[in-house]
Amino acid sequence: GKGEYDHFMLKEINEQPVSLAQAIEGRIDPINGRIALSDFEPGSFADVDSVQFVACGTSYHAALYGSLTLNQAGVQSTALLANEYSVSAPPIDDDTLVVAVTQSGETADTLNALRRANAEGAHTLTVTNVVGSTAAREADDALFIRAGPEIGVAATKTFSSQAVMLTLLAQRITDDLRGEPPTDLESLLSALDAMPGAIDNLLDDSDAAEIARRYRDSESYFFIGRGLGYPVALEGALKFKEITYEHAEGFASGELKHGPLALVTPDTPVFAIFTGQEDEKTLKNAEEAQTRGAPVIAVCPEDHPAVAIADDHLEIPETDPDLAGLHANVQLQLVSYYAADLLDRPIDKPRNLAKSVTVE
Ligand code: F6R
Repeated sequence: GKGEYDHFMLKEINEQPVSLAQAIEGRIDPINGRIALSDFEPGSFADVDSVQFVACGTSYHAALYGSLTLNQAGVQSTALLANEYSVSAPPIDDDTLVVAVTQSGETADTLNALRRANAEGAHTLTVTNVVGSTAAREADDALFIRAGPEIGVAATKTFSSQAVMLTLLAQRITDDLRGEPPTDLESLLSALDAMPGAIDNLLDDSDAAEIARRYRDSESYFFIGRGLGYPVALEGALKFKEITYEHAEGFASGELKHGPLALVTPDTPVFAIFTGQEDEKTLKNAEEAQTRGAPVIAVCPEDHPAVAIADDHLEIPETDPDLAGLHANVQLQLVSYYAADLLDRPIDKPRNLAKSVTVE
């Protein structure tokens, strides 16, 4: 049941310290400090020449997160919407690793993409929450995120666990391709270790309910981020629109000036996500919105330069840039939840949506 919580969504948001610990558990080798994924001996990914992620919705945002992490490490990778894959899959060969990311393991679009990849001879891997699901059975290999059952239609804890799982996978692939662990692995490993506790503190101290109240009468809600903040901006907007029914959009920070800025007014709050990747540029982009009257809510650490400039602040801890966006995402999940609650929406079962989409 929901226990002390009014909604499954809030319960599942609050479960993240535990679900993240479960995602990480046993996956960092205590002896050599490297990422250990069962079934994948060191060197398993040494022949991979490119990685394609296929997924839909929130899982696509996690997939994009993983793909950008690989790109930043110098590995060829793309994230593709599974429902577009049948018409426009990039070339595949037997050194292509195709990773299907799906919470349920039953999404028809994602299964179709996986089947196509299998038929074309790619090596396939499913990242899922459901042991025994169709996607887990049909891929060559499977990795389980171990988030526990998710009842709320809006994916929350499973997004963060998918993104962490894909961060681990990206490190393993990079490690195998280079033949040695990346030099910045130590910072990532200590940030992973600290993450469950840091999310616990963030949940205890969040100002998200107050921010949701302050901006409740707005016309549209914009989310901007750069680098690994970009998939988080997309996810922040998807969560917001699906449970509040209010208009919300996510943009790459640098894209704001290429069109969306025309929509910006004092009635369009802009949530700006800072991950430590060219933050000064994102701050400039946010200020361009602020000049047009938009309130800016900076999602960043306490002593970040954005705090002095922004109208409001949602705090995240100082952490590794590979994980900062996932901390920001938890703040944004809470903002969506409280905004939907103020509007009295049926949070766990938004209209027109189903937990698992088994039709094309
Ligand atoms: C949004 C949401 C959906 C799913 C999408 C894919 O909160 O839950 O966008 O992420 O339908 O579902 P799975 O991950 O089960 O393949």
